[in-house]
Formats: sequence, structure tokens, C-alpha cells
Amino acid sequence: MKFVLLSILASTASGFTILSPSFLPTSLSSSLPPLKSTPDNSDYDFSPTSGSQPALITNNNSDVWVPQRSRPRRNRKSQAVRDMVKENLVTPANFIYPLFIHEESFNTAIESMPGCERHSLDHMLVEVEEAMRYGVKTFVLFPKVPDELKTNLGVEAYNPNGIVPRAVSMIKDKFPEATVCTDVALDPYSDQGHDGVVSDGKILNDITINQLCKQVICQARAGSDVVAPSDMMDGRVGAIRDALDSEGFTDVSILAYTAKYASAYYGPFRDALDSHPGFGDKKTYQQDPSNGREALIEAMLDEAEGADMLMVKPGMPYLDIIRRLKDNSNLPIAAYHVSGEYSMLKAAVEKGWLDEKDVVLETLTCFKRAGADIILTYYAKQAAKWMAEDGLY
Ligand code: PBG
Repeated sequence: MKFVLLSILASTASGFTILSPSFLPTSLSSSLPPLKSTPDNSDYDFSPTSGSQPALITNNNSDVWVPQRSRPRRNRKSQAVRDMVKENLVTPANFIYPLFIHEESFNTAIESMPGCERHSLDHMLVEVEEAMRYGVKTFVLFPKVPDELKTNLGVEAYNPNGIVPRAVSMIKDKFPEATVCTDVALDPYSDQGHDGVVSDGKILNDITINQLCKQVICQARAGSDVVAPSDMMDGRVGAIRDALDSEGFTDVSILAYTAKYASAYYGPFRDALDSHPGFGDKKTYQQDPSNGREALIEAMLDEAEGADMLMVKPGMPYLDIIRRLKDNSNLPIAAYHVSGEYSMLKAAVEKGWLDEKDVVLETLTCFKRAGADIILTYYAKQAAKWMAEDGLY
């Protein structure tokens, strides 16, 4: 259609002649106005404005003209215009900052996650304070538990003097305005390296939930604001909600790991906590990366069981799942930018192959665009700092 229109214009509109001078007899050529915006490579044997079916025409000023009314580039023409029409903005308040903690009095670097450390509890407070200075308000704690405290039933998970309850009270005492989330799953406490209780090589669903309910109450008593079940047992959100409510913790929120996939991207996290599966893999409870619709079954269940927020994990390779949950639920959606995604970026940055600030801020914005309201990321403090330096927040 456009082509036909152009041809008609070309053959009828004598005012804007579309023929290039180099293709015309000298007499005619010299009578034509020069095409101001065409490059002066007159030896080249093709001109888009020439021939019987020219691709392009010229306007009243004799400039090459694509008669295009809609030009999306107008909304990108300056920083001010781009800022005005921006659809998605990430702010530090959207972040949840995961912190690895241990009982030692020093920090330990995590080799496969450059820039991340297992914090002593004292230093955890320093890290929280710094992040809060840049506008990060929410934290999630992951403990490294000594081997001698690990059992199949994961009883250390509900030791009121365990590392997590102590860490929660320390943060809440010093920074009452911070939101503290706690991970609910047995893997840091399991001598089997699994998220649940193991029997005959199987991960038991209902017995595990029994343990998770104890863990949740222990965390809530310590002051946890949000419990985040990452175990993927069936029915755990409902059971956890009932356990919390029956103990008077109706204000404690549940951030459900709704669509948590059996992913190879968790490797560096398991290095950090020394929590690699003791045998087999996690495929009987975490989702198959091939499946998308299954995430909607999980989302419907978690919503019906009383989840306050739904999470997708990992993040970047699963943006389609984030979008599907966003379109199918009115609850806030969280994305977990997991350890392997962090490590991939760090590795490329260390090699000088990517610009860290640009690629990280783009990545986090992409989570928002895909539908994530909340972003768990090891980059939370750094990204918030960059935003502060840029005067954004
Ligand atoms: C375990 C848990 C895992 C992560 C968060 N909670 C690992 C696993 O399921 O094996 C992974 C987070 C990351 O890779 O950053 N309950």
C-alpha cells in the first residue's frame, strides 16, 4: 500500500521531483534542485529517490522524505522527553537485599559471588545501615549453619537462640523501620542438603510442613516481618498462615516462592551456604524449567492459601513467568535475581566485557517491565548507591 502511494506521488507530484541528478540527462539534471540530505557519492549506481518506482521522495524543501506521520523517535528525542514518557522506574524501595550471615566474628568472601560476603552478625548491622542510607528498606537473611547442628528434621531451624532469630532481633532493635524477611526451608539446617525431611531418598511433604510451621513461629517471635517459604512443599502457605494466625501473628506477611524452578542458577548460593543437595537434585519439589502453565497452578494455590506476595525464581531467564503471574494475579509479584545471574554479570564485568552500572540498572528495570513489583537482588545496595549518585532517589 505504502509502495503504491509512493509511486503515485512520485509520478504525479512534479513539485517534489524524486529523480537523482546523476541519473538524468545533463540538461534536465541541471534544472533540478540538489537533494540536500543525500550523500555526495555520485558514482554509486543506485539512488533511493530515482527510477520509475523510487523508494523515497523529497519534501517541499527538497530534502529526502519518508512520508511517515508516526515517528516514535519523537518521544525519545531528549532526556527530558524520555523521562516524561518512561513506563517503568525502579526505586531502592522495590529492592529486597539478601544477606548471608554466619556465627564467625569476621566476614568471609564468597568466591563464586565476588562482592558478596558471609557477614558476621556485627557486620550485618553495618551492611543494613549502609543499604538503608541509600533507600533500601527490606532485607532477607540466609544463614550458614555449622555441620554439627544439621539434622534430617532440621531442628536448628526453630532454635530460639539460633542465628536467624538472633539476627532478626538485632536488626529490628537497631533499625525498627527496616523490614526483615526470613527464609523458610530446611536446607541450611538439613544434614541431607534438602529443603525438607528425607526418608528412603524421598523428600516428605507433610512432615516437612510440620517443621516449617515451627520454624515460622520461631522467626515471627524474633520479630520477622515477612516469612518467605522457599521450600516448594504442597500446602505450606496455608499451613504457615494458620500457624501464624493461631499464634497471634496476623500481621506477619507471607512472601511465597510461588514459581521456584529446579535451576542450575543457584550454584553460587549453595557455595555460599555450603548447602548443595546431599544426594540427587531438587526436581521432585522445585518446578521443571520446561513448564510455564504449572506456575499458574502454584500461583492460584498460593493466593488461595493466603500468600501476600508471589515470587518467581530465578529472574532473568524466567521473565515470561513473571509476566504470566502478573497478568493472572492481583497480588504484588517479586522476582529473585539469583546468585548465578549475579555471578554471570560479575564475571563478565571482571573481564571488562560489560559495563557494570549500565548492565545492572538495565537488568533491574527489565524485571519491572516484565511485571515485578519487588526485586530480590544481591546488587540492591550497589544499585541504590548508583541511583543516589545519579540524584535519582
Ligand atoms: C533454598 C534456597 C535456594 C535459594 C534461595 N533459597 C537454593 C536452592 O533452592 O537450592 C537460591 C538463591 C540464589 O541462588 O540466589 N531454600
